Amino acid sequence: MNYNQCWLNYSFIENYSDKDLLTELTVCVNENKNDIIIQNAINELTYALKNILGINVSCEYQDGTETEKVTTGIILKLLNDDNSKISEEGYRILQTGKTVRIEAKTGQGLLYGCFDLIRRIGQGLSVRGLDINENPKNNIRMLNHWDNMDGSIERGYSGKSFFFENDEILINERTKDYARLIASVGINATVINNVNVHKAATELITERYLGKLRTIADIFAGYGIKLFLSINFAAPIEIGGLPVSDPLDERVQNWWNDCVKKIYEYIPNFGGFLVKADSEGRPGPFTYGRTHADGANMLARALKPYGGLLIWRCFVYNCMQDWRDYKTDRAKAAYDNFIGLDGKFEDNVVLQIKNGPMDFQVREPVSPLFGGLKNTNMILEVQAAQEYTGQQIDVCYLIPMWKEVLNFETYAKEDGATVADIVSGRAYNQINCGMAAVSNTGNDFNWTGHDLAAANLYGFGRLAWNTELTSEQIALEWIKLTFPHKDKVIKTIFDILMKSWPVYEKYTSPLGIGWMVNPGSHYGPNVDGYEYDRWGTYHRADRNGLGVDRTVRSGTGYAGQYNEPNASMYENIETCPEELLLFFHYVRYDYKLKSGKTLIQHIYDTHFEGAEEVEKMVRDWEDLKGLIPDDVYMRCRERFYKQLENAREWRDRINTYFYRKSGVKDEKNRTIY
Ligand code: GCU
Repeated sequence: MNYNQCWLNYSFIENYSDKDLLTELTVCVNENKNDIIIQNAINELTYALKNILGINVSCEYQDGTETEKVTTGIILKLLNDDNSKISEEGYRILQTGKTVRIEAKTGQGLLYGCFDLIRRIGQGLSVRGLDINENPKNNIRMLNHWDNMDGSIERGYSGKSFFFENDEILINERTKDYARLIASVGINATVINNVNVHKAATELITERYLGKLRTIADIFAGYGIKLFLSINFAAPIEIGGLPVSDPLDERVQNWWNDCVKKIYEYIPNFGGFLVKADSEGRPGPFTYGRTHADGANMLARALKPYGGLLIWRCFVYNCMQDWRDYKTDRAKAAYDNFIGLDGKFEDNVVLQIKNGPMDFQVREPVSPLFGGLKNTNMILEVQAAQEYTGQQIDVCYLIPMWKEVLNFETYAKEDGATVADIVSGRAYNQINCGMAAVSNTGNDFNWTGHDLAAANLYGFGRLAWNTELTSEQIALEWIKLTFPHKDKVIKTIFDILMKSWPVYEKYTSPLGIGWMVNPGSHYGPNVDGYEYDRWGTYHRADRNGLGVDRTVRSGTGYAGQYNEPNASMYENIETCPEELLLFFHYVRYDYKLKSGKTLIQHIYDTHFEGAEEVEKMVRDWEDLKGLIPDDVYMRCRERFYKQLENAREWRDRINTYFYRKSGVKDEKNRTIY
């Protein structure tokens, strides 16, 4: 096998306390015995029991009333009554006497219940006395793969695509193992092709590929996952022979209707489309003077009769900006483009909004659209692929960042509404809502390039299922499912993960300003790399200070896109959270921070600290030699050394740049070049 199974690489646990409860398996699903998802649930459970506990269970099928008499072992039961505590995807696990019952209304619920039990056993946790009802907090829990059909992956740091190669679709064992992996953490939807749809990918929605896509969709369906595709808004022109792709043109509407009809003939459970339109050179409705509601609704209407969803990205901004222009602000673009369309979308349209207003920087404020839109379905988009956060060379555990976004209070409602309340659909009683992550996977042996980056994939699924889990809980679960259960191993890896985001932030761009990366690749420091460019990503540093004035009073006005009291909080330099100071304000180098340090000294100190902390991480990792499998140890060690080099490069470039700009010396006289 040229890949591992990440957290499903079960290892044997000796002396597990509750083995006696797990030696038999009774399944009561009546006429649904051959349901593929139920079969998969049973297979997953028996496979895990065998590998983790060395128990061989054979599965007994029984009908409803008989199960009540079963007195030992695991009982999987499909409920036909109306248990209002369990949703369609939810499950109950109940341990009493000598039985462990997993009950659900659907095969999907049973599958999730089985994976839950496996997770507990795999961590060595007792299941005695367990009595839980678990329902997902988000209905849509989705991955977006930026895989191209030539096999490359845009912003991919883990090898090549395992979905495509040479314009063909790949289907093999890994397709199924992928489905197992992501279903095990509750992901129920996936877009397998890049949002930038070019060439052959435009044809994915045609008969050239639909046969193979059906096979993939069937494999996914066996694990409760719906297949979605990214589409090219200009497809009617590029492959349909029409002169336009104007959403109000009847020929265009008919073309999409026929296209969608064909897709559903092949793939009856097809999820729908994801669209990047009028963004970074991609076609869209603006060409025809139409709105994004016109564009999205046309596609949504085509999908509606089949229950499909139309996911429309809000990452729309002017990427041909003039750096001399201090008024245009890329941060404002998503809000400006979409706020006026609130309430104008079909109910199967979902707007997908990046967590921040810029582009997945190490620190950004939360997108003001979450607090702005009130009558529109929304999905929160995060990026597990570490484009700007170390590219899976540097460790950066992102769950704490995503937690901050989810916990952000938008003040959209009188009694409050966090981003988690909004994207779960709770705030406005919506159904088609949730979370999406740009995937960090590829065909590398370990799937995610850096072994520790798998924590982000695992964590995304767990968090999308239950936004209330803490970053610490998720980290511990993942570590225990992935590494040997030795205190030192668990503690060391836990510490590394938990400090990795703050450390990455320290040695890269300071206080929310972002960017300062090498253009194109986005890895490594280059302070002015994007400063005089067209992308709208400026730091505005001069000899006196740096930062972008985004206040209403004297700047771009971005701060005013928030509800009160957030707007005033950001507007005011004294109340603006310091980690975002330079995002909202132009600040002088001698400005005193709350710590009592000047801004310039803070920049120097954090950069020295960041690099030192990476040095410590490397030492801590090296202390694990012999305690974890050697191949994992070596793979990560190599990456830690690259991270160290990177952190030192960042430290010296940033410090030198600002020393030369400001002429202010480091108080501690450390080496700055
Ligand atoms: C970033 C990224 C692109 C990507 C884009 C998007 O700008 O660098 O590669 O296409 O985001 O989210 O659409």
